[in-house]
Amino acid sequence: MFPTTRMRRLRSSKFRPLISETTLEVKDLICPVFVDETITKPMEINSMPGYFRQPLSMIADEAASISELGIPAIILFGIPEKKDETGSHAYGDNDVVQKAIRAIKNKVGEDLVVITDLCLDEYTSHGHCGLVLGTEILNDPTLPIYGKIAVSHARAGADIVAPSGMMDGMVGAIRKALDDNDFQDIPIMSYAAKYCSAFYGPFREAACSGFTFGDRSTYQMDPANTNEALREVELDIEEGADIIMVKPALPYLDIIYRIKKKFMMPTAAYHVSGEYSMIKAAASNGWLDEKKVVQESLISIKRAGADMILTYFAKDVASELKSR
Ligand code: PBG
Repeated sequence: MFPTTRMRRLRSSKFRPLISETTLEVKDLICPVFVDETITKPMEINSMPGYFRQPLSMIADEAASISELGIPAIILFGIPEKKDETGSHAYGDNDVVQKAIRAIKNKVGEDLVVITDLCLDEYTSHGHCGLVLGTEILNDPTLPIYGKIAVSHARAGADIVAPSGMMDGMVGAIRKALDDNDFQDIPIMSYAAKYCSAFYGPFREAACSGFTFGDRSTYQMDPANTNEALREVELDIEEGADIIMVKPALPYLDIIYRIKKKFMMPTAAYHVSGEYSMIKAAASNGWLDEKKVVQESLISIKRAGADMILTYFAKDVASELKSR
């Protein structure tokens, strides 16, 4: 009791590092990268100031610059030249992501873990994550296509595939397709608890993946639910997920916490596009200190239980941590 006990004794800057419970390190970061088949120079994303879509010709250099900062992994999103009803340019050996993976692997080799976002929304003309019939998003007929995409990514040299489409059974279908094609050592990072979130708004501009009808609420989760997230994660683990993801991050810290506690799996959190844009907008108005807010956001995500964070601030944070 006070005055014997004084919590402020250890709060001096001299002791702070000794007693800090959570750390943010460069090794915790995964950097999202957009590769766009339709451009020849980097294009800034309007709603994500400071973030660029990269042309195929520069993707290897971009990956190398990320790797040089000590960031251990990237997650790759492709923007194809042609979209169609079934997203057929998601799985050709000469499609945008497959070409990008080969270019990156040629340049940086094993120094960088290349994770590929595995979904259809960037590749379909309607912008949904599955096949559609009328206005219905079809589940089971979509699964073999996810399998094909996974195998094509692995064949191109991807290290991890990350399915984000929230179809039931997707992890099992992908695991089987990979195993049947001798890719049993390629891990699956599943977007297991992916909420139907308005925080993805800027991403849809970044990846040109806005949808032409409806929304994603018949496959992504209701922000009101927790138990459902636990069930989603449990099913994905049973189907063979190696890493599970919660998305978005900051508004869902309780979900990260509960999932890490219950399943003790390697857990990733996606600090999404809207979380990036909010900070950028406030900082550019001089309302928030960008560096400090980013640091605090990411440490909170780690404190909740995430082992790794996908964030558009990865390069900034890595440079900052390096310079200290
Ligand atoms: C789907 C996908 C999305 C994001 C990652 N993968 C968009 C969506 O579900 O609508 C969003 C990421 C972000 O907002 O940063 N391929």
